[in-house]
Amino acid sequence: MYNAAVITVSDRAFSGEYTDRSGPAVSELLKNHGYEAIKTAVIPDDKDEIIRTLTELSDEGIDLILTSGGTGFSKRDMTPEATKAVIERETPGLCEYMRMKSAQITDRAILSRAVCGIRNDSLIINLPGSPKAATENLSFIIDALPHGLDMLKGKKE
Ligand code: MTE
Repeated sequence: MYNAAVITVSDRAFSGEYTDRSGPAVSELLKNHGYEAIKTAVIPDDKDEIIRTLTELSDEGIDLILTSGGTGFSKRDMTPEATKAVIERETPGLCEYMRMKSAQITDRAILSRAVCGIRNDSLIINLPGSPKAATENLSFIIDALPHGLDMLKGKKE
């Protein structure tokens, strides 16, 4: 099975103003779907820091890198821009599907600016910040991910 990392992007969680609940919720969902060695980190909404973290995890060979938070309209929401700076190929279907399915739950799903894409052997996916929104979004795509990762790793044509 594949390994994964879950990066919570939030100034307030990073400063300790509140406890990160999204990272653990997303990790739990991944564990229930067979992912192993799940790395976690909480980082601030800083574009350079996000770029550095995503690049390091990808260089380490993490298969699936999920971010949670920073995809909305606030001035500090820079996760999509940092992700665009890191990926080599976009995988738009993942984000399109998450937004489409989420819009059946809340109209506000269209406010997500999330980006998904591939860097080297890593698939990088932006999720929203709240535990409910993050796990809802991931649950819509999680069953398709192993096939995508198999193709990325050359295990399937
Ligand atoms: N998707 C689902 N499934 N459920 C939600 O509650 N919230 C939306 C959207 N996607 C939501 C969702 C809202 S209100 C916003 S602003 C965007 O995700 C971006 O969230 P973020 O700024 O926490 O990244």
